[in-house]
Amino acid sequence: MDNIINYLNLVTLLLFFAISDSFGGNLDDFLRCVSNDDSNPILINTPSSSTYSSVLNFTVRNLRFSGPDTPKPFAIINPSQASHVQGGVICAKNHGVHIRVRSGGHDFEGLSYVAHGVPFVLIDMAKLNSVSVDTDDNTAWVESGASMGELYYKLGLETSGFGFPGGVQPNVGVGGFLSGGGYGLMVRKYGLAVDNVVDAQVVDANGRLVDRDSMGEDLFWAIRGGGGGSFGIVVAWKLKLVPVPSIVTSFTAFRIWDQNSTNLVHKWQLVAPEIDERLFIGAMVTAANSGEGGGRIMGVFLYSLFLGRAEEVISIMENNFPEVGLRMEDCVESNWVESMAYPASGFVTAKDMNFLLDRTPLTNGRYKTKSDYATEPISQTALHGIWERFNAKGIQTVQLVLIPYGGKMNKFSETDTPSPHRARYPIKIAYYVTWDTLEGDSRHLEWTRELYDYMTPFVSKSPKAAYVNYRDLDIGRNNEEGIPTSYEEAGVWGLKYFGDNFERLVEVKTKVDPYNLFRHEQSIPPVAAQVKISSGNDVACDKMEYLPNLIGLAM
Ligand SMILES: Cc1cc2nc3c(=O)[nH]c(=O)nc-3n(C[C@H](O)[C@H](O)[C@H](O)COP(=O)(O)OP(=O)(O)OC[C@H]3O[C@@H](n4cnc5c(N)ncnc54)[C@H](O)[C@@H]3O)c2cc1C
Ligand SMILES: *[C@@H]1O[C@H](CO)[C@@H](O)[C@H](O)[C@H]1NC(C)=O
Ligand SMILES: *[C@@H]1O[C@H](CO)[C@@H](O)[C@H](O)[C@H]1NC(C)=O
Repeated sequence: MDNIINYLNLVTLLLFFAISDSFGGNLDDFLRCVSNDDSNPILINTPSSSTYSSVLNFTVRNLRFSGPDTPKPFAIINPSQASHVQGGVICAKNHGVHIRVRSGGHDFEGLSYVAHGVPFVLIDMAKLNSVSVDTDDNTAWVESGASMGELYYKLGLETSGFGFPGGVQPNVGVGGFLSGGGYGLMVRKYGLAVDNVVDAQVVDANGRLVDRDSMGEDLFWAIRGGGGGSFGIVVAWKLKLVPVPSIVTSFTAFRIWDQNSTNLVHKWQLVAPEIDERLFIGAMVTAANSGEGGGRIMGVFLYSLFLGRAEEVISIMENNFPEVGLRMEDCVESNWVESMAYPASGFVTAKDMNFLLDRTPLTNGRYKTKSDYATEPISQTALHGIWERFNAKGIQTVQLVLIPYGGKMNKFSETDTPSPHRARYPIKIAYYVTWDTLEGDSRHLEWTRELYDYMTPFVSKSPKAAYVNYRDLDIGRNNEEGIPTSYEEAGVWGLKYFGDNFERLVEVKTKVDPYNLFRHEQSIPPVAAQVKISSGNDVACDKMEYLPNLIGLAM
């Protein structure tokens, strides 16, 4: 085993040099390679195509990664069938071209459509967005390019009494969302989205299209939460649908900041992760400029889904969380799919399914997100320190979002999927800051880092856990070509995202993608990556085909 790993290290090292050495002439070869099958043409956009910019922009969600200085792909491949994805992967591999994969484009660091320092091709899954529902066994196959809303919409048309525990915001792509675990309004009743995935179709590092049987349980485990862009390109996922009542209740409650607000947020921490598992109550504290006289406005917003009728949730709230003062007029009863459209409408109406299909984002500014998990309630004193920072001078709009786990989440072991944050992590925290201008970047980025450091004593420790779908390159990263300088270094962020599962993810990666074809600034490294890569290059080796296929040998 050790010898094989050493051998692998060497071979992979050669390959890294091969890859970094081979850019330039290979781009044309790549383009010829992907377009050489006339019977099965692949749609390709290059910067000279008139549609290039609109195709690239379609799912860009953070203007920090869309400026004139942002590196752009030398080609965008828009597969409309799985074989096109295979073609893209095989040609990229054969010509040493760097790949980025994008489904819904919501990656907080833009990793799905930006690579620095190397030319790259974007495989854009947007056209692979079909959803097919099987009402006999209550499952659905959904392609990665579908949005969460497209999935919900189809479930609304074709099932009754079934839903899926997907994300809150319907614009998010199925591909990235499921790759990172995925929580939503039914997380307390049904767990993470990946807990409800039963099969998948993946294009692997050899360009093969594999399903659960042919990929094996290791890879099937890794793709359900190990983070996007590391193990292959998931073309489609088979979901187990979950029963939902015919009438559900959504409610929101907004309170302008007053002397009771800290108490309300504190009490939320005690109640929300413990309450009836049919009830999800998210809490959001927002501070923004009020417009008038440059003052600051702050408030608490609770948003909720209850799998039952309004009358019942009002009585549950009266008994457990009377401070909210929930009233009938705060509640909207609807069927499940309409309730999923409620956040999409900006919490205006829970009656219009069409909001689910709208791909224009509610907001599209410059933003930064970081995440934590609280293992115990944050004290009122510590909360006050957050509010102080929320009113810092020159900072635009900030939000603290608290997500309750508990309920069904307590039933999973930390190793069932790569997503380890279960019973020990009852509260998921996100910090968002948004602003308008390029010159605001450094000030706002600094601000989030300071807040994040401030929170260290009050949140999970060793590791300070983070959510991989709230991608944050500040917590550690590979270099721009997706290669960590050491295994230990990758472990710094790896442990935060995956806990002890990180090690198994590295093993799976080493087995299925030893040459690190699928890589980015926070991709899981293969074992060979513990070799320090230096920039010097006296090794000649220019074609990946010449290297022996060690898959199967490695484990
Ligand atoms: C407005 C907003 C709301 C959000 N709400 C929620 C929420 O309610 N719950 C939650 O859990 N998260 C939420 N998130 C986070 C979200 O889950 C992640 O950003 C997720 O990765 C986005 O998936 P995507 O397909 O849109 O992103 P992309 O940017 O397309 O992809 C994200 C990552 O996955 C990789 N990837 C994409 N497609 C594939 C594929 N087919 N195969 C393999 N790798 C792939 C990409 O290369 C990239 O590394 C939200 C984010 C935003 C911006
Ligand atoms: C794409 O977005 C960039 C940056 O936001 C903008 O400059 C460009 O005009 C957009 N292209 C199209 C076709 O909308
Ligand atoms: C704060 O809470 C107390 C007790 O519940 C209540 O009497 C008081 O009116 C509240 N203050 C505000 C400003 O809402």
